[in-house]
Amino acid sequence: MHVKGCIFDLDGVIVDTAKYHYLAWRRLANELGFDFTEKDNERLKGVSRMASLEILLSIGNVTLSEAEKLALAAKKNEWYVEYISRMNKDEILPGVENFLEAIRSEGIKVSLGSASKNSMMILNNLELTKYFDAIIDGNKVSEAKPDPEVFLLAAKELDLDPKDCVVFEDAEAGIEAAIRAGMQSIGIGSVETLGKATKVIPNLKDADLTILEF
Ligand code: BG6
Ligand code: MG
Repeated sequence: MHVKGCIFDLDGVIVDTAKYHYLAWRRLANELGFDFTEKDNERLKGVSRMASLEILLSIGNVTLSEAEKLALAAKKNEWYVEYISRMNKDEILPGVENFLEAIRSEGIKVSLGSASKNSMMILNNLELTKYFDAIIDGNKVSEAKPDPEVFLLAAKELDLDPKDCVVFEDAEAGIEAAIRAGMQSIGIGSVETLGKATKVIPNLKDADLTILEF
C-alpha cells in the first residue's frame, strides 16, 4: 500500500495530556466527596468529555440532572484548560516532531483526528499546528470513537480515499474507528490493548518512514 495520508490522534499519541485530565477529574471527584485513582483514569482515555463524566459519577455513585452534569463538565474543563495553557514544546512526545517532518517531506498529507475540543490550544502551545493540512477535533464531530466519523472527515478534508490513510491511535476505541473507516492503523502502546491495529509500536520515539510499509 502507498500511504497518502497520516491521521493522528492527539492525547496519548502526540502529547501526554492524560495526567492533566486526571488532575482535573480528581479535583472534581474530591469536591463531590469521593476519591478518583490513576487506575480509574485509565478508563477515561479516548472517551469524550461527557462520557468521562458519566464514568466518574458512576464510580462515586452520584446521580445528577443533565444541567448539573453540564455545569460540572464545564468546571472540569476550566481546570484542565488552566493546566494545558501552560504547556509548551517540551511536552511533545519523543520522536513525534521528527516523524511529522519525515512524512511531510515525502509529500504525505497530515491530519489531526481527535475527540478533544481543546485540540487547537494544545497544538498551538506545542507549536505543531504548521504540520497539519487538516484539523478534525471534538468541535467538528458529533459521533465519538469507535464511530469512524472523525477519521472519515479527516480523509475528506485531505481529499484522500480512506484506504490510502493510516491512523495513529493509543486507544482501543480509536483503532476500532480506524477499522470501521476502512483505514490501516498503527497502535501506539501495548499489543494487549491495541491488538486489532495493523501494527503496534510502543511510541514514536524511533519511528521513520519504514513503519508505513504494510
Ligand atoms: C480525548 C481524550 O482525546 O479527548 C479524553 O483521550 C478526553 O481523555 C477527550 O476526555 C475530550 O477532550 P476535551 O479536551 O474536549 O475534554
Ligand atoms: Mg488518545
